[in-house]
Parts: sequence; structure tokens; C-alpha cells
Amino acid sequence: MPDSATAPASLTKIAFIDLQAQRARIGEKRMEAAIGRVLAHGGFIMGPEVAEVERKLAAHASAKHVISCSSGTTALVMALMAKEVGRGDAVFLPSFTFTATVEPAVILGATPVFVDVLPDTFNIDPESLERAVAVARQTGLRPACVIAVDLFGQPADYDSIRRVAERHGLWILDDAAQSYGAHYKGNALGTCAEITATSFYPSKPLGCYGDGGAIFTDDDEIARRLTQLRVHGQGRDRNENLRVGITGRFDSIQAAVLLEKLAIFDAECHERNAVAARYTAGLKGAVGTPFVRPDCTSVWAQYTVTTPRRDRIAATLQAEGIPTAIHYLKPIHTQAPYRGFPVVTGGLPVTERLAREVISLPMHPYLSPEAQDRVIAAVRAAVV
Ligand SMILES: Cc1ncc(COP(=O)(O)O)c(C=O)c1O
Repeated sequence: MPDSATAPASLTKIAFIDLQAQRARIGEKRMEAAIGRVLAHGGFIMGPEVAEVERKLAAHASAKHVISCSSGTTALVMALMAKEVGRGDAVFLPSFTFTATVEPAVILGATPVFVDVLPDTFNIDPESLERAVAVARQTGLRPACVIAVDLFGQPADYDSIRRVAERHGLWILDDAAQSYGAHYKGNALGTCAEITATSFYPSKPLGCYGDGGAIFTDDDEIARRLTQLRVHGQGRDRNENLRVGITGRFDSIQAAVLLEKLAIFDAECHERNAVAARYTAGLKGAVGTPFVRPDCTSVWAQYTVTTPRRDRIAATLQAEGIPTAIHYLKPIHTQAPYRGFPVVTGGLPVTERLAREVISLPMHPYLSPEAQDRVIAAVRAAVV
């Protein structure tokens, strides 16, 4: 293998996500000092950094309450627990998402009902949701909740989802694991649904250096329940347990890391958008480029294109030292643990086509124009 410092430019490897460039921007000393402060005070769980990051996130999203927690999956589980979702309840969600969207409903004994997505944004299709509610009723389930995933960084269409939800008495849980920082009609995610869950997994647009997550809500009672749930249902003190809870806490070292990253996050989102715009200009006509609704912003967790020639693109790019990924090769309703759950009438044709055609390209705020040009040229070469 050629040494990347001396190899011709065309062979240097491009990072899919570049956390080292981000570390250099923040400054190693600054990050180490932030972590060192936690080592010095020793309040490793729910220390002062946790309260500070919750305050800053609430201000950043203009949300009333932020309850940090141990992961995005935990955030979804706790949200469903706070609303007492369980056996007999139907939870509507897309199949074209990461598995963590469906796990919490199943863990709690509820029944996921799979809904198709829109061909342009890849987010939940409100008409498919309407039909899925009818399927749930026919099966004897109680329509309870819709999990609207903001896939690849772009918000779902909350106004349309809400119209269906209100007709059928559903509450909306926003799975914003990939999209914290994005806006829907001028409103930050965190404020577009009854409860919003996000993830700080390291590769997310806003990530820490381990697992972490947060829950946003404007509802005082839900916030109170969530605060109890994350500490085993604890009440006033550790001798009182008010409800069945879990170990859902965020840790102080991750909160300290997140505070440093939050300080540069808005600038990074801006840079991600510049990278996406350059990709789209260079790739138009060669592949299906991502569509962002004019009333939304995206944080570009992924830059995902569609093409019937994805195997050729993946092979050509790999030979050029350019990594790609497929999100998602196997939709959730086709995976072994979930095959028995109801699917909307008419099936999931858009989901199934996307699973055959999507491919994600390197995306991060530190992608240079030269690196991007290499990616664009390689994709174009693969599809001629
Ligand atoms: C859509 C979606 N939901 C939930 C999660 C779960 O987040 P975590 O890995 O922090 O548990 C992820 C993580 O990849 C995700 O992409």
C-alpha cells in the first residue's frame, strides 16, 4: 500500500466521516482540558457538564425541556415508556430507517406497523400512514403513536403527519437521531413533535466520543416522567421508586465533549450544506441527487444518491480510495425479528426500490473541494 503522504493524489484515501479534522479544529488541548476537568471533579455520572449541556441544547433548539440520556435508542425507549406505550398499541414507523427506530416498540410489547416513505425525501409518506392506521384497526390494535424519522438529516413533513395523527388520536415521536440541528418551516427539530429523541453517537452530525442521546419536549409532565425514568424511576431520593425505569443517564465526560462540539456545530452545519450543494451541482444528471424541501434545512448526516448502477459506483470508488456505504440494504420489515409485523396495505414499493438503489458518499464538513472533485469524477466515470 502506498504511504498516504507520498501517494499520488488520486490514491490518497478520503474519509467517510473525519473526526480527526474536527478534533484539530477544536484543538486537542482544549478537548483534553474539558475531559481533564471531569477527571478532576470526579462526578462522572450526571455531573455539572450534563446540566450545562442540557441547558445549552434547550436554548439551541428553543425547547422547554432537554433530558440527556445514554443513547439515541435509550431516548426512544424512554419516550415510549413515558407515554406508557405497550401491549395492544400500534406504533407506526417507516421500514426504511436504522433498526433502532423499531426496537423500542418491540421491547415494550407494542406492535410496529410499517409505513412507506416518499420517493423524494425518503421520509414517512402521510398517505401511507393513513392506510396503515386502517390496517392496525382491522388487526384489533389501538393506534397509539407515529415515529417520524428525519432520515439522513432532513425533517419529515410534520404538518402533513400531524393532520393524519390528529384524525386518529396519535401522538408524534420524532426520531431525530440523524438530524439534530435541522429545521422544519423555521422550527428547530426538538420542537416539531410531542417528544423528540436524538443520538450523539460519534458519527452523527452532533456526536460525542462514546454513546449518548437526548430527549426534547415542551410537556412538563412528560419531562418529569423522563427525569425519573432515566434513574430507575427514582422519586425525591434514591429510597423512593415511583415507576419502573432504567439506567438511562448520560455521563459527564461525554457531556464535556459535547459542549466543545456544540460550540462549533452551527458552523459545521453551514459547511455540510456547502459540501452538499457542491456535490449536487457536480452529480446532477449522473445519479439521483438528494431533494431537500424548500421549507426545510438538512444537516446532511448522509449524502445519499439513487442509481441503478450502485455496484459499479461502489467498485470504482473503492479502487480510487473512496469509501461508500449503503443505508439501508435490507429494510427492517425484511429482517428476521420483524417479518411477522403488519405492513401497510399495498406494501412498501418505495422502500424496496430505495433499498436497491441508494448509495451514500463521503460527507463531513472537512471535505475539501479537491476531494469532492475526485468523488464526483469517480461517480461520473462509473455511470458512463
Ligand atoms: C434513525 C436512527 N434512530 C435511532 C438511532 C439510535 O441511536 P444510538 O446509536 O445512539 O442508540 C440511530 C443511530 O444510528 C438512527 O440512525
